[in-house]
Amino acid sequence: MAESMMGLKRSHRCTELGTANAGENVTVMGWVQKSRNKGGIIFVDLRDRSGILQIIFEESDCGSESFAKAEKLRSEFVIAVTGRVEARSGGVNENLATGAIEVRAESLRILSESETPPFPIEENSKTKEELRLKYRFLDLRRPDIQRNMMFRSRIAVLTRQFLAEEGFLEIETPTLIKSTPEGARDYLVPSRVHPGSFYALPQSPQLFKQLLMCSGYDRYFQLARCYRDEDLRADRQPEFTQIDMELSFVDVDDVIDVNERLIHKLFKELLDIEIPLPIPRMTWQEAMDRFGSDKPDLRFGMELKNVSETVKDCEFAVFKNALAQGGSVRGINARGQGAMPRKKIDALVEFAKGFGAKGLAYLAVQPDGSFKSSFAKFMTEEELHGLVEAMDGQQGDLLLFAADKDKVVWDVLGNLRLELARQQELLKKDDFKFLWVTEFPLLEYSEEQGRFVAMHHPFTMPMEEDWSKIDEDPGAVRAKAYDIVLNGTELGGGSVRIHQADIQAKMFEVLGFTPEQAREQFGFLLDAFKFGVPPHAGLAYGMDRVAMLMVGADSIRDVIAFPKVKDASCLMTEAPAPVDAKQLEELGIEVSGEEEGK
Ligand code: AMO
Ligand code: AMP
Repeated sequence: MAESMMGLKRSHRCTELGTANAGENVTVMGWVQKSRNKGGIIFVDLRDRSGILQIIFEESDCGSESFAKAEKLRSEFVIAVTGRVEARSGGVNENLATGAIEVRAESLRILSESETPPFPIEENSKTKEELRLKYRFLDLRRPDIQRNMMFRSRIAVLTRQFLAEEGFLEIETPTLIKSTPEGARDYLVPSRVHPGSFYALPQSPQLFKQLLMCSGYDRYFQLARCYRDEDLRADRQPEFTQIDMELSFVDVDDVIDVNERLIHKLFKELLDIEIPLPIPRMTWQEAMDRFGSDKPDLRFGMELKNVSETVKDCEFAVFKNALAQGGSVRGINARGQGAMPRKKIDALVEFAKGFGAKGLAYLAVQPDGSFKSSFAKFMTEEELHGLVEAMDGQQGDLLLFAADKDKVVWDVLGNLRLELARQQELLKKDDFKFLWVTEFPLLEYSEEQGRFVAMHHPFTMPMEEDWSKIDEDPGAVRAKAYDIVLNGTELGGGSVRIHQADIQAKMFEVLGFTPEQAREQFGFLLDAFKFGVPPHAGLAYGMDRVAMLMVGADSIRDVIAFPKVKDASCLMTEAPAPVDAKQLEELGIEVSGEEEGK
């Protein structure tokens, strides 16, 4: 039978003990990692969230009752041990923080027994993630996950501390809100009191934090839960946490300044890494031109080069056609990869096609200076040499070219660049390269919707010098928006907001809202703007991503206690799940079509 805590008090966590405690009487509690019965002497590795401590049971010390209990111990039993700290009898274990000591047990209580767990509780588990997530409560016992969770907690604590010291107020905003059409798909919550009406879960606290600025709170922050019904990837979850902030009476530089100091503090205190400030800045245009991405990974070079000018008169139809259609021809130089076997190059072509390329033209500069190429036959010797020179091609280099609309070319080469870096193992997890990407386009044309959509959100301030172009060339207007990028991941993003009613009204018009639709959706914000609104700006980090990159995890799931999987379900609780007919009836909801699994 499981025993109770009556009269017992834990004195230490396992790894709080060391040689300095030798001779002390202590009480420790935790889970049995491993128990070895050597006949007359039993060794138990006791585990708690701090680590592992060796306990030694001998009948002469702990008495026959406790010894009999110790003989029954199995992995994951929860026990309390009182005993004396001693220097290890069997020599120091260098692999353990407590390797120089052990606790000689004087009494044992079994607080809880355990069935054999479906997988061993150990570091670097080889168990399939699906099984681990089904038993996440066990998986969360593993030391590497526990370290991640403790690290994440420290990020939260330090962030709160820093922002509070900087004069930010922590204010909660609602999570049952009104659905808005911009951005990702909303998660909806039906209202029982208003049948047929729905709340949305917030994709971010955006509108509320702007209203808080209107209300004079000046500097706000929140560790906010956000919900987005979008396709999941390794760095995305349907619900996630933002470190969200908003500031009044500021411009871009003020937001960047406070955030650089926050980043500096987190890295210094948690990893003892000095991030050099200021963090470099790059405009969106430069990021696209040089890296084919709005979140460039600066841990390696392999920059894109625009060779449109060099190849503009050549006869290679692929290049000619792309240029004739207003596109470009760009390339990257995979240094020293000129001897890449044909099969591997073909795999790169397939990879490029996955990002919308129609093909990938290549040219390998052979050790003897000759070329091996998929398009050399369409070009003169002179043109080829010009191209190699434009790409700074040396003997042994592999030059890869994409020709298409800019957007496709950037996407293809930007991703190809990353793929080559992965293949060449250029991406070191402990090399942290930050970058601010600024001056994003305000709008982006959506072929799907046949109109311009906001690249960030509809409240983002256009750059003053571009605003006059809003009617004749909306796509050319840049925004006062910025992203903070780390090693090719967008950690956070934000912008200066529109605080002038006329600019906001124009934005809604460009985005295709009628004044009535704008009123219906955002009336409360437009009203607030009528009563004195300070200029304001803000930013939000994906806190899960911050944690993921700082601990070097491969997946965002490794830093979230109870994550969801690719199809947005929770393998442990089996959410989402059908509900009672009665619940649906109360909500006035009828489910059409076939129910899943039936
Ligand atoms: P944005 O949409 O860029 O901006 O989101 C801010 C940051 O949140 C993180 N993030 C995610 N993390 C995990 N899973 C997801 N599905 C996910 N989606 C986004 C990213 C991203 O950079 N309200 C604005 C911020 C502002 O303007 O102040 C906003 O939400 O790291
Ligand atoms: P093709 O004439 O279609 O056989 O193509 C000749 C070479 O050009 C092949 O190596 C193709 O992979 C490549 N190619 C085709 N389309 C493109 C493109 N849009 N950009 C770059 N290379 C391409």
